[in-house]
Amino acid sequence: MKGKVILAYSGGLDTSAAVKWIAEKYDMEVITLTADVGNEKDFSALQKKALKIGAKKALVVDAKEILVKYFIYPALQADAIYEGQYPLATALTRPLIAKVMADAARQEGAQAVAHGCTGKGNDQVRFEVSLAALAPELKIIAPAREWGMNREQTMEYARKRGIPVPTTIASPYSTDENLWGKSIECGVLEDPWAEPPEEIYTWTKPVQDTPKEPLYLEISFDRGLPTAIDGVELDGIELIRRLNTVAGEHGVGRIDHLENRLVGIKSREIYEAPAAAVLLKAHLALESMTLSKQQMRFKERVAQEYADLIYNGLWFTSLHQDLAAYV
Ligand code: ARG
Repeated sequence: MKGKVILAYSGGLDTSAAVKWIAEKYDMEVITLTADVGNEKDFSALQKKALKIGAKKALVVDAKEILVKYFIYPALQADAIYEGQYPLATALTRPLIAKVMADAARQEGAQAVAHGCTGKGNDQVRFEVSLAALAPELKIIAPAREWGMNREQTMEYARKRGIPVPTTIASPYSTDENLWGKSIECGVLEDPWAEPPEEIYTWTKPVQDTPKEPLYLEISFDRGLPTAIDGVELDGIELIRRLNTVAGEHGVGRIDHLENRLVGIKSREIYEAPAAAVLLKAHLALESMTLSKQQMRFKERVAQEYADLIYNGLWFTSLHQDLAAYV
């Protein structure tokens, strides 16, 4: 064994295969780490699965509060929306997960960290830029980028090693969820002319199934942060969850975005983000009453810079500190 590696673990096929692949290829001890970012997984089942596949340890870190307080709320105060559409749910968790991984690596005395991203997306960049800023001494391993297997081959690899593979025809969609929203891509969605099939939506109702009566919600803010719904004070996690449920029930928060990725390609992604849609709108409305015309013009430009910075994985940078100071 040549040392230890902390693997960001989702429990899916790629990261499960990675547990074995890293042990075989690098002869390292694998410690999996799963961050609870409000995606409602069965974390103890995930831990058992990781250990059964061969992980030496399976860590689960509850990161919901940190996510809300240090990532979602600053983004909300900045009005950060990428290309006028995407509230950045996935993008906001990557620097957070990188931080949790760097902390775990130091605690466990690991020499490397690993993630399951492929070479096509934004997330590999976000993880690696954040890790380079926080813990430049760590080696980064990216199995899904290094192993050169397609999905079929990965399944075959997993089957041969007794790793549980979903028996039903796997969903063609790739999804990612946390408190701030759900991201859905692949399958038929890759054709930007195709209307997204109803089956992809799990957080929001189609308009024909929403309640007949509209719903009014009164959201209280204190210094730019939401504190209560209809006079009932709620902590950030509860407030966001509640808005996801209620606004989703009313069909609010579906976003269809053909976005410009950081790696230079365009890609179509669908988002469901009811709470983010409501809170960003409410926050902008609040600013329309409290900021001067000149401040509003300038804030728009700061908001766009801030959104690009989050999207591009530049959370842990000095420019971010500058922009945050203005916000
Ligand atoms: N395009 C979004 C981003 O770069 C989401 C990426 C993850 N999406 C997914 N379906 N796994 O932030």
